[in-house]
Amino acid sequence: MLPVLTESSVHMTLTDEIKALNDAHVINTYGERTVALSRGEGMLLWDAEGKEYLDFFAGIAVCNLGHCHPAVTQAICDQAKKLVHVSNLYYIEAQTLLAAALCKHSFAEKWFFCNGGAEANEAAIKLARRYWEKQGTPKPGIVTAQQSFHGRTIATVTATGQPKYHDGFQPLVPGFSYVPYNDLAALEAAITPDVGAVLLEPIQGEGGVRVPDEAYWKQVRQLCDDKNVLLILDEVQTGLGRTGPLFAHQGYGITPDIMTLAKGLGNGVPIGAMGCTDGVATGFDVGSHACTFGGNPLSAAAAVATLSALTAPGFLEAAQEQSTYLFARLAEVAASCDAVVEVRGKGLMVGIEFDQPVAPLVTTLIDSGVICGPAGPNVLRFLPPLIVEESHIDRVISLLKASLGALKW
Ligand SMILES: Cc1ncc(COP(=O)(O)O)c(C=O)c1O
Repeated sequence: MLPVLTESSVHMTLTDEIKALNDAHVINTYGERTVALSRGEGMLLWDAEGKEYLDFFAGIAVCNLGHCHPAVTQAICDQAKKLVHVSNLYYIEAQTLLAAALCKHSFAEKWFFCNGGAEANEAAIKLARRYWEKQGTPKPGIVTAQQSFHGRTIATVTATGQPKYHDGFQPLVPGFSYVPYNDLAALEAAITPDVGAVLLEPIQGEGGVRVPDEAYWKQVRQLCDDKNVLLILDEVQTGLGRTGPLFAHQGYGITPDIMTLAKGLGNGVPIGAMGCTDGVATGFDVGSHACTFGGNPLSAAAAVATLSALTAPGFLEAAQEQSTYLFARLAEVAASCDAVVEVRGKGLMVGIEFDQPVAPLVTTLIDSGVICGPAGPNVLRFLPPLIVEESHIDRVISLLKASLGALKW
């Protein structure tokens, strides 16, 4: 629905027209794209020309309930008619209800709201530092993992253990160190007396869908307790049912001291959140931190409706059954294709590692009507909405097989 179609656009598709206008006016940080998606419903998306796609990416683990979920859409519309925004200088009913619901479903006793994942991690980093400062034992150091991804603000890009994301942004924020993921001895060695927190993803997403050993998390929790450092879990991608339980750490039988959320929390309406224990929350005082839009009426109302649908009886269990089916079908693909190195993940967070860059496979799949993406150069990432059904999985598997055949992989 562009305002102008130029004379010269007569022979252009709407996508071409969008692309030309976009390239002229939007800074190119996302690279060349071939599709302009304009409508969605459930598992399906349609582009500007009306071509249908099956969504196996959910806007990078955002639309966990599928597109335009009726209850979330209703909540957004109702709230938009009532009140879209007021500042946090006043109580906001929907934000209060959201915090209470998140407390009910997690270890956390207090919440802070913001706009997205990087801001949630930024809040966690600030809280950890201020917590130890207020305790009278300042220890600003933060250990994160190599190949992690925590966001693009200057502190969270520093926390991100991938040099390619640091390129050109030096000087970075002091106090961060990096260890190999899933390596307890390296983590132990890195927790020097000036370290106050460990920040990790329960499963690394953007870094290649890496699942640590089953024993790792209990050992990490124990280590953090022994060394008296805070454990911050970045559940921005793994949270809200993506890996099976509502929060991935619940499947590992541990609790962090701080947890960050975003992506799936508003099912597409931008919102981020940082939750922590009552004790850790004392690190912040009035004025320590703030966010104009954080938990505003519209985003909070969307998140309340989202959380309520995700926690409805049977919802996550049904998604888990689809996960089992998807992994079984992918094992079949792996068995018949030598180019597959490994299929890994948990729940509906799935990575398929190939012995070569996946960019051509992603393009072929998108052309054939499957929205998906990479996780690093050699890993194809599937993050379908949690409402996926066997018939959708069957369709994707047959298109995946056809794409692999077309590429002669
Ligand atoms: C684990 C993790 N943390 C943080 C972020 C950053 O979130 P946002 O893009 O909302 O700032 C992402 C985004 O992909 C993520 O996967």
